[in-house]
Amino acid sequence: MFENPNISSDIINQNNKNSLTYFIETYGCQMNVADSELVSNELEKIGYINSNKIEQADLILLNTCSIREKAEETVHNRLDSLHYLKKNNPKLLIGVIGCMAQNLKNELLDSKPYIDIILGPDSYRKISEIVYNRNNKIDHIVDTKLSKYEVYDNMFPSRKSGVNAWVSIMRGCDKFCTFCIVPFTRGRERSRSIKSIVEEVNKAVGDGFVEITLLGQNVNSYRTPDGDFPVLLEKVAKIKGVKRIRYTSPHPRDINEDVLNVMKKYDNICKNIHLPLQSGSTKILKTMNRTYTKEEFLNLVRVIRDYLPNCSISTDIIVGFPGEDEFDFNETLDVVRKVKFDFSYMFKYSSRPGTKASHYTNQVDEKVKQERLEKLISLQNEIRLKVNKSKIGSIEKVLIEKNSKKSDLFWSGRTDGNIWTVIKKTDEKIKDVVDVLITDAKGVTLFGENLNNRGQIS
Ligand code: 5AD
Ligand code: SF4
Repeated sequence: MFENPNISSDIINQNNKNSLTYFIETYGCQMNVADSELVSNELEKIGYINSNKIEQADLILLNTCSIREKAEETVHNRLDSLHYLKKNNPKLLIGVIGCMAQNLKNELLDSKPYIDIILGPDSYRKISEIVYNRNNKIDHIVDTKLSKYEVYDNMFPSRKSGVNAWVSIMRGCDKFCTFCIVPFTRGRERSRSIKSIVEEVNKAVGDGFVEITLLGQNVNSYRTPDGDFPVLLEKVAKIKGVKRIRYTSPHPRDINEDVLNVMKKYDNICKNIHLPLQSGSTKILKTMNRTYTKEEFLNLVRVIRDYLPNCSISTDIIVGFPGEDEFDFNETLDVVRKVKFDFSYMFKYSSRPGTKASHYTNQVDEKVKQERLEKLISLQNEIRLKVNKSKIGSIEKVLIEKNSKKSDLFWSGRTDGNIWTVIKKTDEKIKDVVDVLITDAKGVTLFGENLNNRGQIS
C-alpha cells in the first residue's frame, strides 16, 4: 500500500490511534502549492488528517519562500506568533519546509529553537519518517540536502477539490539570473519523465480536474530522452478530458517555434504566455544575466503574436535593480507601452544574500525604487484597463470556476487569456466552458453574459 519503503506500519498505527491532524500554510509560488499537496499526501498516508484550523493542528508546516526579503519577514513573524500554541498542545510539532528551510536553516535553528523540523525542497520523500522520529523525541530534524535527481516521480499530490490541478514537470533552475535565490534554494534543473506526468494528468482528470497547469521554474528547459517541452505539451493536450492547459513560467530565451506550433494546433492549450521581462534596459538585462536584449524581447513578442494573434502575454518586472538609472527605467516603461502586457507582477528589487547582484556596489535608493514601482504600476493599470475595455463586444471562452465574490447570482471564471470574468448565472455549471459576450470591463475584471443561454436566469 505504501510506495515509500521507509515507512513502517508502526508509524501508521501510532498516528491512527491518536488521529493526529496537520495544517500546511503555503507561501510563495505555485511550485510551493504543488509541493504542499505532495507533502499532504505523504502525511495522509500515515494517518494524519487535514485540520481546517491551525490552532487545533498537531503538526504545523510552513512551506516558505525566499524570493524577496519581505516573504522571509512574513514567515519569521508568523513563526513567532505560532510559538505560543505549543503551550496549549505540548504534542504540537512546528516545521519549516521549502526555500527558507534550505537557505536559512542555521539562522532558524538559532533564533527559533522551538522549531522541530526543517526540510528543504528535495527532502519531502522523507517527511513521514521525520515526523515519526520527531514525535518520538529524536532530536530536531534537519534535512536540506539538494538532489540532482529528485523529481518526486511516483509521489502523488493530495488535491483539494477544484477546477485546476498543478502538475510539476521539472524542478530547479540553472539560469542563475544574478538577482535570484532560486538556483541556490531549489538546486539544479531536472525533469520528470513524460510517462509519469501523463499518468498524473490522467489521475487528475479522473479526480474531476479539467484544467491542468504545468509547473516548473523554467518549464521550457524541460528535457527528457523521450522529448522536450513541446513533445510533453502535445502529449498532455491529447489526454481526454483535459479542457484547458496552461504552463508557467517559461524563460524568454527558450520559447521556440515548436512550442508555438503546438499551442496553435490544440484548442485546449490556452493562448496565454507568462513571459518574464524583468527589465526593458539591455544594459540591466546584461547585468541580470537574462541573456536577451530589449530588441530580442520585443521581437519575440512579435513572433508570438504572429503565430497566435490573440495570445495574452503577462510578465514579471523588477524595478531598482543595482545600476538602474532613469534612462534604464524609461526603457522598461517603453517596453511596457509597446507590448501592452495583459497582466504584470511588479516588484522592487530585493537584495538576496549569496546572489551575485547582492555584491554589486551601485544599489538603488529605497525611495527611488518605491517611486519607480508606483509609476510602473500606474502605467500598467492604465494599459490593462484599455486592453480589457477593448474586449467589450468580443466573445471569450470562459471556464466557470466558482460563485462570484459579489453575489451567488453570478459565476466567476477565467478566459483563455486568464482574465477573471463575472457572468450572470443561467443553467451552466462549474467546470463548463461557455461562450461569453463581454459587456463591460472594470479594474482587472471582465463582465459578460453566456451567449448559449441568454435570458434564461436560473
Ligand atoms: N527581488 C525582486 N524580485 C525578484 N524576483 C526574483 N528575485 C527577485 C529579487 N531578488 C521576481 C522576478 C521573478 C519573480 C518570480 O520574482 O521577477 O520572475
Ligand atoms: Fe530565478 Fe532566473 Fe531561474 Fe527564474 S530563470 S528561477 S528568475 S534564476
